[in-house]
Amino acid sequence: MPNTSVAVTVDGLTKQFRTGGEPLTAVDELSLEIAAGSMVALTGPSGSGKSTLLHLVGAIESADTGTIVVGDRDITKLRRAALAAYRRTIGFVFQRYHLLPALSALDNVIAPVLPYRVDFDRAARARELLTAVGLAGRERALPAQLSGGQQQRVAVARALIGEPALLLADEPTGNLDSGTGAEILDLLLRLRAERGMTVLLATHEQHIAARCDRLIRLRDGRIAEDLDLTGGDDDRDSTLTRATQLRL
Ligand SMILES: Nc1ncnc2c1ncn2[C@@H]1O[C@H](COP(=O)(O)OP(=O)(O)OP(=O)(O)O)[C@@H](O)[C@H]1O
Ligand SMILES: [Mg+2]
Repeated sequence: MPNTSVAVTVDGLTKQFRTGGEPLTAVDELSLEIAAGSMVALTGPSGSGKSTLLHLVGAIESADTGTIVVGDRDITKLRRAALAAYRRTIGFVFQRYHLLPALSALDNVIAPVLPYRVDFDRAARARELLTAVGLAGRERALPAQLSGGQQQRVAVARALIGEPALLLADEPTGNLDSGTGAEILDLLLRLRAERGMTVLLATHEQHIAARCDRLIRLRDGRIAEDLDLTGGDDDRDSTLTRATQLRL
């Protein structure tokens, strides 16, 4: 079941938070083009705006100014019903999995599409996805009965139930040891190759960012560095040496 990937074009995007006192600019006049089907790592220090940017692209937060074109739609112009429909076309993976503790792995995967009329068999697709993420046989397990890595696999399967053209992941490996984190990244790379979706992920980890097609480093809500990692291995190594010097 191939997904159709989408390009994302962000232009002049600004988001401020006002919590009394001076407004804080989390994303500052940011412009960015992401090619359809690419896998892009967002890095940068804590507070640099990675999560805010993902939330804006995922329409979890609304922008103050600027546009975000996903596919052929400017999502900053969408109103309620259209916005809800847009959210159903993207997948979101969080650092802390956010699984519902009382539901089985299978029911967690089904949960996002439960309120909607869909033209596929929900349980059958959820089973297929759990198999794709390596959890065949664990459909009935509760989150507490699964390891952190397994819970994140469930969260990845859940994010894919609507066959998203765009997958957003906020530190999907941040709570995992480096080996398990690398496995989750293998999974995302494989699913991206199989399904052709665009992936935008925030990470603090060099070894995760290194395996993406492109590394964008944010600082104070702006792009501080934008590195193409799709060259040959030699190019990648020298590019990453530079990235390491930049201290991700
Ligand atoms: N809901 C909010 N209310 C007020 N300020 C916020 C809110 N969300 C984010 N911020 C502020 O916006 C800035 C950017 O935060 P953001 O969470 O996007 O950073 P980040 O790069 O994801 O950081 P981290 O690596 O720690 O996850 C920070 O200064 C943060 O305190
Ligand atoms: Mg964050």
